[in-house]
Amino acid sequence: MAKVYVTRHIPESGITKLKDAGHEVIISDKDGVLTREELVAALQEHDPEAVLCLLTDMIDAEVYDAAPNAKIFANYAVGYNNIDVPAATEKGVTITNTPGVLTDTVAEFAMSMICAVAKRIPEADNFTRRGKYEGWGPMLLLGSDLKGKTLGILGAGRIGTRVAEIAHNGFGMNVVYYDIKQNEFIEKGAEATFKATPEEVLREADIVSVHVPLLDSTHHLINAERLAMMKPTASLVNTSRGPVIDENALVDALKNKIIRSAAIDVYENEPALAPGLAELSNVIITPHVASATEETRGKMSEIAAKNILAHLRGETPPNKVEQ
Ligand code: DGY
Repeated sequence: MAKVYVTRHIPESGITKLKDAGHEVIISDKDGVLTREELVAALQEHDPEAVLCLLTDMIDAEVYDAAPNAKIFANYAVGYNNIDVPAATEKGVTITNTPGVLTDTVAEFAMSMICAVAKRIPEADNFTRRGKYEGWGPMLLLGSDLKGKTLGILGAGRIGTRVAEIAHNGFGMNVVYYDIKQNEFIEKGAEATFKATPEEVLREADIVSVHVPLLDSTHHLINAERLAMMKPTASLVNTSRGPVIDENALVDALKNKIIRSAAIDVYENEPALAPGLAELSNVIITPHVASATEETRGKMSEIAAKNILAHLRGETPPNKVEQ
């Protein structure tokens, strides 16, 4: 029997798997993110053999040292930019994530953001709610069609590819994409055209949807200079990680109509928003919920548990990240 520390309440299904396998599961009883001090103190107190952590936990050498017997940190997310992987490798700690299960969920959300921003649905809702609707009007809240428009995908991994497929096969959009290498799946599934640079995608697309992981090379991939390359009628959608976009530059671009609109689920300094962002009517802002469905959050819990169980059996976990 091993001790597994879970840094916050997550759906029960994964916890049950850990308990059914005979392990002791200790779940943080704080209703919120543990501070670094609280996390370190909890690990020192419980001395677990495995840790199930969340994307809001910053995991680095100090944290590994606080749990010297925990040789696996299973992240409850597909993204793992919250984890210092080189430090883990140095200390012999395995890192896992939860890829695959959230592909359709996040892609559906990204597509919903694309529809919502093109059709101005939140603006229309707000308008009606505030009692401003005084009758049908030929010029009232005009949005844009998607059919025949160009969707630019930045990052053609699983999620970017799925968004491209839905947009192309369901909505009749043309797809151009940029990734560090060409991807046969997006080309077959969405008849997408590869562009050798992000700039080409930004110049051509009517809607740009961002799906890159957060790496040093993708930090501020979308900055003021690149926003200025977009069409003034274009919209930007981000369901990946906040720091991929320079959020202050985005606020300026939206204010000054450099681009038409944006739909953003992730932020540079979550949960804080860049000054001025929330005051703009041409941006949709949601609280990092692209993967938040009952089904997917349950599956993420099970996958994180499966990774821990495999490790505790002495096997390589199915979703060990590259180390
Ligand atoms: C992930 O898994 O990386 C998502 O951002 C979680 O919502």
